[in-house]
Amino acid sequence: MSSAAEHPSHLAAWHATEPLLVSDSERVKFANQAFADLVGVPLDDIVGRGVDQIITILDEPMVLERLRSALRQHQPFRGEASCHTAAGGTVPVDLSVIPVGDAATELFVVSALDLRRQKRMEHQLWQSQRLDAVTQLADGIAHEMNEAIQVISGYLGLAALESGRQLGRGDLAAIERASKRASTLLSELLEFARRRPATRGPIDLNTIIRQWEDLIQALIGTHLRFIVDLARDVPPIHGDKGELQQILINLVTNARDAMPEGGTLTITTHTVAPDRLITSEVLDDRLGTYLVLTVTDTGVGMTPETKANLFQPFFTTKGKEGTRGLGLATVQEIVRESGGLLWVRSRPGQGTAVEIHFPTLPQPTETPLPAAAPAPPGRGHETVLLVDDDPGVRVVASRGLEQYGYRVLTAASAAQATTLAAERGNEIGLLVTDIMMPGQRGPGLAQELVADWPHLRVLFISGYPGDDESDLVRRAPYLGKPFTPDELARAVRSVFDG
Ligand SMILES: Nc1ncnc2c1ncn2[C@@H]1O[C@H](COP(=O)(O)OP(=O)(O)OP(=O)(O)O)[C@@H](O)[C@H]1O
Ligand SMILES: [Mg+2]
Repeated sequence: MSSAAEHPSHLAAWHATEPLLVSDSERVKFANQAFADLVGVPLDDIVGRGVDQIITILDEPMVLERLRSALRQHQPFRGEASCHTAAGGTVPVDLSVIPVGDAATELFVVSALDLRRQKRMEHQLWQSQRLDAVTQLADGIAHEMNEAIQVISGYLGLAALESGRQLGRGDLAAIERASKRASTLLSELLEFARRRPATRGPIDLNTIIRQWEDLIQALIGTHLRFIVDLARDVPPIHGDKGELQQILINLVTNARDAMPEGGTLTITTHTVAPDRLITSEVLDDRLGTYLVLTVTDTGVGMTPETKANLFQPFFTTKGKEGTRGLGLATVQEIVRESGGLLWVRSRPGQGTAVEIHFPTLPQPTETPLPAAAPAPPGRGHETVLLVDDDPGVRVVASRGLEQYGYRVLTAASAAQATTLAAERGNEIGLLVTDIMMPGQRGPGLAQELVADWPHLRVLFISGYPGDDESDLVRRAPYLGKPFTPDELARAVRSVFDG
């Protein structure tokens, strides 16, 4: 059976460029060269092996179940699987299994199309979708930013106008609230934009949703009602923060787009016990407690045609700039990779609910203690050299540190700092420097000064963590802008004490 010449049909299969094998219900009877090449195993070693040593069905309960039921009914099957390679890896393949012959002498003709190229391209597509999500978020928060800046500049403008008027406590609190909000949104955006690659691990979905409530509100605008209803004490799931956030953005954006006339967006989580799972498609051995994320809107709903296509990459009915029809395809991919299941319930005019079932992990035995409110920063008496090209930052940072007892020398550039250090290097205990500055940058300055005064400690401050990725910066203490005077004082104290 392994020889190509025995039968004309073998000859055809032998020369096919498509990887092919023929097996009975257990062992490989025949394979062609293309198959041997695919798995990197000599032809003679494949024939006679157990089929399951060579091909595994993807760890997807539904695929396996479909295969089993097709074979029981002597029907062909097609689905994704992976082939083991000689090198110990696996190759993703589009597997098709066709039963031939009668029940007694049944054989299976198996073809396995290499999906590596396609998977690579798909992966790039999912990666690029993150950029779409970042753009959505940026659009959403731009509006909030403007509002925050409006509040801040408004109060300051009033103070200047009513000259001699001091900003009152209430004014200051409003300014602080607005700037905190702007800075939180911005840092969430940056964190999301920069987070990669995905690192999956136990993660609390509720926390992710709660941390992003503000951002989601910004994304949908103020004309929609927004309800969040999360189950208590939910078990962790296996996932990546950035990917789960990407799911949220994509679903929320879709919901928003479906409600141009207003409506309600609801995000809920709840757990389902194994026996309550609403599907018969899930295999028994996969049953466990699932955590269900549901994103519901009261929008336009979907036609049957849309519903049939909505996970297809590039399927979109929106035709507006920036939509590519990749949102749900990406969601589905992420859900699949985390072992979850996804359902969409929708009717024209009756809104849409997207439901994702995530398999859960055992509850951690120790629940982390809630973070205590930070203690007020300790005071100091040391001398700090503060270098920043922004005069506003210099004023606020130096006055703040002086309030905590430090002596502060300020410089607007590395050159000025070097001059100051030459005069008073011995008394300076800490260099606090911006990273990006015109002329010499912070890291270079730090390196030079530390070479001359080895006792000198360094704290970098920067508005964008990606400014410098050198080892020096990565290892040194770092404080992101914007910071409050308290936060700076705390960071400075901990550098001196650390
Ligand atoms: N909540 C929803 N309500 C109504 N229709 C929806 C909803 N979510 C998705 N759809 C339909 O499914 C299509 C595909 O959605 P998907 O998120 O994949 O792409 P998109 O939103 O059109 O584009 P992109 O997400 O790339 O910006 C949409 O164009 C829309 O027709
Ligand atoms: Mg979308």
